[in-house]
Amino acid sequence: MKTLHISNESLSNFKGAKYLAISHALRQAIKQGQVKENEQLPSARELAQQLSTNRHTIMAAYNELIAQGWIISKQRRGYFVATNLPINSSLPPAQQNRVSESGFQWQFTKNVPRHSDQVAANYRYNFAGGTPDISLFPFHEFKSYVSDAFSRPQLAELNYGNIAGFSPLIEQVSQYLRRARSLTDREIVITNGSQEALYMLSQLLLSPNNSVATEAMGYAPAWRSFQSSGTTVISIPQDENGMIPSELEKAIANQLALGQPIAVIYLTPLHQYPTTVTLPPSRRHAIYQVASRHNIAIIEDDYDHEYHYSCQPLAPMASDDPNGLVIYLSTFSKVMFPGARIGFMAMDKQLATAVTNYKSLLNHKVSVPMQDAIARWMQAGAFERYLRKATKTYHQRRDFMIKQLEHYQSLGIVSAFTIPDGGMAMWVQINQSAKALTERALNNDIYIQQESQFLIDKNQTSDRFIRLGFAGLGEQDIELGLQRLFDQKNV
Ligand SMILES: Cc1ncc(COP(=O)(O)O)c(C=O)c1O
Repeated sequence: MKTLHISNESLSNFKGAKYLAISHALRQAIKQGQVKENEQLPSARELAQQLSTNRHTIMAAYNELIAQGWIISKQRRGYFVATNLPINSSLPPAQQNRVSESGFQWQFTKNVPRHSDQVAANYRYNFAGGTPDISLFPFHEFKSYVSDAFSRPQLAELNYGNIAGFSPLIEQVSQYLRRARSLTDREIVITNGSQEALYMLSQLLLSPNNSVATEAMGYAPAWRSFQSSGTTVISIPQDENGMIPSELEKAIANQLALGQPIAVIYLTPLHQYPTTVTLPPSRRHAIYQVASRHNIAIIEDDYDHEYHYSCQPLAPMASDDPNGLVIYLSTFSKVMFPGARIGFMAMDKQLATAVTNYKSLLNHKVSVPMQDAIARWMQAGAFERYLRKATKTYHQRRDFMIKQLEHYQSLGIVSAFTIPDGGMAMWVQINQSAKALTERALNNDIYIQQESQFLIDKNQTSDRFIRLGFAGLGEQDIELGLQRLFDQKNV
């Protein structure tokens, strides 16, 4: 195994937490070429021995480098230098522990991965997979509920307190979940979108001593939340039906042997993110059984439940949860718009109390007037009316997209795609490099995403899949956008 030259002096000169000093030194070692792209790094145990430190400190340093894109973790094999190394300038200057413009030297104890400023909505043709068509939202109608919320305010609720949420909204959400998603007997906490829920769960349930299992392709904002608590995100192979339960079992045994047991499984069972496939009942059952046997919690992220077209959506895993281990998350980001920042969690009482306590540290509570307006909107039945309208429109757009893709398939440009039962995007196999096509598309004012952006282990890419959202564009834009995307003369 490779021995890296890292001097203890350079570590002790570094101002900041030890794991950051180690990750900084490792980054230097990679930049100096001590280890090359794709080359294996020492195991956490070996490096801990070499540097006379704790294995968990090394794992935290490795996780830091994973989050920054310098290294990757391969299941059962260890840590490797990534193939596409971030250039030095990709590190935000603020994270380099340099003196800032103001002259002050910030001592960061955490490096948060850079957030992409690439705003999909700024592109002429925005095929982002999870984007609702915000222009369909009934702003005028909703305004009357906002106005009501201010005309007849519930004064007590406008103060601090009631951290878990505005009670009329909790009541509306509970009723809706009971009726539309077969979810009963759960404590509801209203959150600032699913992202806050993911972050709170990572802080409450995860640490450098455990790990999270997720589908091999998934939702990067969720992994980043998990990694912020120092945990390791383990990629579980998936196929055309979603996560493979036998692979999950193997990973559980492997992580136990490594002393980093899996504490949480993060799943998007209804419309797998990003492929949109529905996890079949047999797999749901198998995963649930494995989780129960090993005392592992499941986070079920049901982010676009309503948008299901071919049949009734499968009831959430949380609706059949005899052991109470499923934490259910959902959001108003798709049924309203992401800027509403309203989501909710449904879970057992003990966890709900812990989450509520944690939330009091973050932001006390979610904006009460917004919660109040949504509660009134739901109570009047206008929410479900809008939902029916949006679902019908997205269904038509999905069918239109299918026709378009069939056309490109007949031309040999698209090789294959599966018609999703629901969701807001199609997962499309093409006959050329997905990365190259995406790069050209972005330069040509078209926003699309490609396979490797969704992979935890970027090296596993087949470089043949792109994700095409259909919900956020009208039919004409779908047609013209695809023409521009696939017309080689233009791209
Ligand atoms: C898998 C997944 N979960 C959750 C969300 C919504 O997150 P939030 O409620 O924080 O806006 C999205 C939005 O794109 C998503 O794709």
